[in-house]
Amino acid sequence: MKISENNVILQVDNVDASYGESKVLFDICLKLKSRERVAIVGRNGAGKTTLLKCIAGFVKPTRGTIVYDGMNIVGKRPFEIARLGLKYVHQDKGVFQDLTVKENLELSSYATGDYNWDRVFEYFPKLKSLINRKGANLSGGEKQMLMIGRAILGNPKVLLIDEPTEGLAPGIVNDLAAVFCELSKASALIIVDQNLSFVSKIAQRVYAVKEGRIVSEIKDEQSIKEAAYSCYL
Ligand SMILES: Nc1ncnc2c1ncn2[C@@H]1O[C@H](COP(=O)(O)OP(=O)(O)OP(=O)(O)O)[C@@H](O)[C@H]1O
Ligand SMILES: [Mg+2]
Repeated sequence: MKISENNVILQVDNVDASYGESKVLFDICLKLKSRERVAIVGRNGAGKTTLLKCIAGFVKPTRGTIVYDGMNIVGKRPFEIARLGLKYVHQDKGVFQDLTVKENLELSSYATGDYNWDRVFEYFPKLKSLINRKGANLSGGEKQMLMIGRAILGNPKVLLIDEPTEGLAPGIVNDLAAVFCELSKASALIIVDQNLSFVSKIAQRVYAVKEGRIVSEIKDEQSIKEAAYSCYL
């Protein structure tokens, strides 16, 4: 692992992104240290998912650099970036409906053959009891566990997780907060979420995005919740 001296595993500098003629991200700069938990908050349509997609290789920035583990990954394809240990958990809970939980999990690490089953079942014991169930027959919360389980099966260095608490019951949200704090002992996390009480529980730093721009970076734990609200005004 080529982590730089100040422990930065991911650094985004001056990134712009567009869909056709429509510019969505403007001069985005952020960094993530190894084993850090950072959240990105902002209104619907602010550009949060687009930012994660740029990092994961699904959207190619029109300007800027994204340096992961010492290399500029702009222009690399999503599967190449995933193989390097940077995994993206999509906002839509897109599990394979006709495949079982086990098959869904296996597919994610097919390319690298890197299967850390113990780690997945340690964090999500419920997945073990659902191992032969088809994706189509899982509840929303179970699908979310499967999506995250899929991403952690291969021991990623960085996990990007888009709206993990969307549609989940409060009890599951609390469990997820504990899981993320555990996960960050081995992987750095960027979590996009609109649930600010969840964000204030897990995040060590927060970037607030408004209309495609980072409008503030909040480092002070005490004020994370309060300050994060400002980007919704
Ligand atoms: N594939 C696409 N083609 C064209 N425009 C898009 C596409 N995907 C997103 N957009 C637009 O880009 C802007 C940013 O969208 P994005 O999905 O990044 O926002 P978001 O902050 O994740 O919102 P949400 O909180 O609703 O998930 C929005 O105006 C959206 O309509
Ligand atoms: Mg989104």
